Amino acid sequence: MRKLITTMCCIFSMVAGGLNAAPIEIKFSHVVAENTPKGKMAIRFKKLIEQRLPGKVKVSVFPNAQLFNDDKVLEAIILGDVQLAAPSLSKLETYTKKFQVFDLPFLFDDMQAVERFQQSEEGQKLLTSLESKGLTGLGYLHNGMKQLSANEPLYDPADAKGKKFRVMASDVLAAQFQVVNANPVKKPFSEVFTLLQTKAIDGQENTWSNIYSKKFFEVQSHITETDHGVLDYIVVTSKEFWAGLPSDIRPVVEKSLQEAITFGNQVALQKDEQDKQAIIASKKSTVIELTSSQRQQWKQAMAPVWKEFQDEIGADLIEAAQKANQ
Ligand code: LMR
Repeated sequence: MRKLITTMCCIFSMVAGGLNAAPIEIKFSHVVAENTPKGKMAIRFKKLIEQRLPGKVKVSVFPNAQLFNDDKVLEAIILGDVQLAAPSLSKLETYTKKFQVFDLPFLFDDMQAVERFQQSEEGQKLLTSLESKGLTGLGYLHNGMKQLSANEPLYDPADAKGKKFRVMASDVLAAQFQVVNANPVKKPFSEVFTLLQTKAIDGQENTWSNIYSKKFFEVQSHITETDHGVLDYIVVTSKEFWAGLPSDIRPVVEKSLQEAITFGNQVALQKDEQDKQAIIASKKSTVIELTSSQRQQWKQAMAPVWKEFQDEIGADLIEAAQKANQ
């Protein structure tokens, strides 16, 4: 009898415990505004999880570097302070040099080529290259091609000479400005507006959606449409957290994430054109379209960067990325 009572108690406490179990918390930290491809993707992910795993998983999104800057967020993931982030591929250098391929100037013709490379065998393999550091890459997310803004018009590479440009923490991006005799300054995204406003720096490179949502166009007289590089993201979590998710939860989280990424990529495509048009309409900054010979000059001037980083990145990987243009 006593044994039966004990067993019943045990079952009861397990059921009650199961019912009262605190939800698994996923903190998603990022640095951009909510009205951007990444911002909207994060909100979509939260909504999907709330619908599909109510009471079991709770997602909190922290935009605008409220919680961590991109230079700290990977460390925070490893320490378990946040569970999801989507840093730019340019900000992974201290963890692996492989993603530097995405920073090579004028490598990709357009975002379709970027997508083809990311979905290729080589691109998918890159997602696993952070595993030895305790990080799991769950997918790529698009933002778009980068443009060059400054407080003077930039038509050809000589116009950049002596100017200070903010870059993300990437040696390839720094080299890209050094080869046109400009001065790169590595700074976190959250500081860019103030640096431009106070004229501590002269210019920066970014996508239309970042230039628009963070109001860089209000403190830059000109934006040259160079499409000289790509700004995309890796959606990343901790290996330990991912492996520790219960087996009935992980697939739902993964599916929701993939759907949110697909949605984010659609937003990226729309915002790229929309935000460019909004900047033009604002008349606060002049958008310069390059002639093909001017663009060719930038391409030629920045070409030495490829050679400089070829050994670190690997000639095969560069070749695979180039193939995606065809
Ligand atoms: C930047 O630092 O310019 C970007 O990486 C910000 C972002 O996350 O889009």
